[in-house]
Amino acid sequence: MTDQTAPAKATPTLPDAQTVTSVTHYTDRLFAFRCTRPQSLRFRSGEFVMIGLMGDNGKPLLRAYSIASPSWDEELEFYSIKVPDGPLTSRLQHIQPGEQIILRPKPVGTLVLDALLPGKRLWMLATGTGIAPFASLLRDPETWEKYEQVIVMHTCRESAELTYGRDLVTALPDDPLIGELVADKLLYYPCTTREESAHMGRITDNMTSGKVFADLGIAPLDPAIDRAMVCGSLAFNLDIKKVLVSAGLSEGANSAPAEYVVEKAFVD
Ligand code: A2P
Repeated sequence: MTDQTAPAKATPTLPDAQTVTSVTHYTDRLFAFRCTRPQSLRFRSGEFVMIGLMGDNGKPLLRAYSIASPSWDEELEFYSIKVPDGPLTSRLQHIQPGEQIILRPKPVGTLVLDALLPGKRLWMLATGTGIAPFASLLRDPETWEKYEQVIVMHTCRESAELTYGRDLVTALPDDPLIGELVADKLLYYPCTTREESAHMGRITDNMTSGKVFADLGIAPLDPAIDRAMVCGSLAFNLDIKKVLVSAGLSEGANSAPAEYVVEKAFVD
């Protein structure tokens, strides 16, 4: 993991420009960065915004990114994959502190607490960079006030790819704002699929086999108490939906809250 922090240097000002304040590289496929936050930007934890860089053709090259920082943070944080020939991330991965990105300050999305009916257990189900919106939601006091238990399942190919989420989850009990709320409520179940680790297997398989419930010593899914938020690849989202639907949960939206909500993680 490498960190870069440096004072801002002068660059030409873009429309909706924000300045990068730090960059952390986790693996050759993953990095996170922080940037300044427009003073007027209000968002609900779990929402995404369009961010990007100016393209060679002079037009903004923008993609949807979940905001990974909590709504009270004075900066914004994003967690990104590096796609070698991806139009945006092939360039964004080289961003340095002091440089500018474009940020359209219109947060939207369905991965929000408001789109769920009241419940007792909240499942956060993520693959890869799909952990980003949960990085925001996990640091939101409302999450911990609304639920008796929060279960974070994050699956990646290799252990190093779990680092961003693991660091965040591990730091929660020491968080001055929510630490006390978190202590008895948080269950964390990180898994790898292509490297040996303490817990192995896809989220879908570990749910349908009952492994996650047995390992954590908790009851199986029950639509009366369980709520779920899903963020991962398209294939994962489709497969986990089937698991949730077969357990009796139905999909919610801002306009019609229900038992689970889904958002696609960044795809380049
Ligand atoms: P697997 O290694 O078995 O493909 P990626 O890096 O490709 O986005 O994958 C992130 C994680 O999501 C990997 O652990 C991968 O498992 C898992 N995954 C990919 N597709 C699915 C799916 N359809 N259902 C459940 N897990 C999936």
